[in-house]
Parts: sequence; structure tokens; C-alpha cells
Amino acid sequence: MPIDNNENKEFKPLIVAFCCNWCSYAGADLAGSSRLSYPADVKIIRVPCSCRVNPLFILRAFQKGADGVILCGCHPGDCHYTTGNYYARRRMTLLFSMLDYLGIENGRTRVEWVSAAEGVKFSQTMNEFIEQVRSLGENVRLEDLRCKNN
Ligand code: FES
Repeated sequence: MPIDNNENKEFKPLIVAFCCNWCSYAGADLAGSSRLSYPADVKIIRVPCSCRVNPLFILRAFQKGADGVILCGCHPGDCHYTTGNYYARRRMTLLFSMLDYLGIENGRTRVEWVSAAEGVKFSQTMNEFIEQVRSLGENVRLEDLRCKNN
């Protein structure tokens, strides 16, 4: 009887993390230089500010096979562009409620504020988020089969 190797494979969720250049990306950098670990399945996309993330970017990430998407920015009041993260927060609240309506579980999306000095928080957040997404399993709801690598 042939052995199905896929059965024994541990599910490794693909996480897309949008990080603003001024705080969260620097926080990720600090986590790396402090040798704090977070899974390599987290793919970081650096953006100038959290408000640069158009909701369509998140939908596209899910279409292209992401299992979870997290948006990280400066703490409220600390945005390099003064109010960018307030816009991002409002936009994401609305988007996440629509995703919920589409059947994308709330646990697959998250907004987190991480400063440049919070390497530990960045690492902990990513580890927690990846565990949460792992418990939800693979995301197939919005997946565009044309984007699948076969
Ligand atoms: Fe970081 Fe705006 S620059 S959220």
C-alpha cells in the first residue's frame, strides 16, 4: 500500500505581514538582530506606513494562498505621517468585518502596533498569530486556483 507523505506533513501556515517602515519593520529587524525566533513562514512586506495597505492587498494575499495576514504599524500617536495608522485601523476594522461575512475567520487577520524598540513583542506576536492560524487550518475560501503552484 503506498504511503501518503502528505498525511504526515505538519501544516505550515503561510503568513503575510505588512510592516510599516518606521516602527514595525525596525521591530522585526531588532527581533532578528536580538536572535529572537519567529517562524520563517512569515513573509514580511515593508510598506512606508500602515495606511499604505490597500484592503485589496489583503484580499490578493488570500487569493495567492496566504493562510493569515497581519498588519503591523506604529503605536497610535507615533505614526511617522501623524494619522496614517488611524486611517489603517478604521479601514481594517471595516475590511475584517466584511471578510467575516465572506467566511474568512477573524483569527486569520490581525492589526498590531509594534514600535522599533519592541523586537520581543514582534517575535511573540508572530509566534502567537501563527499558532492561531495553524489551529484554523488551511485557508481555501478566497484562494484563486490560478495562483496555485503545481
Ligand atoms: Fe508607521 Fe504610519 S509610519 S504606521
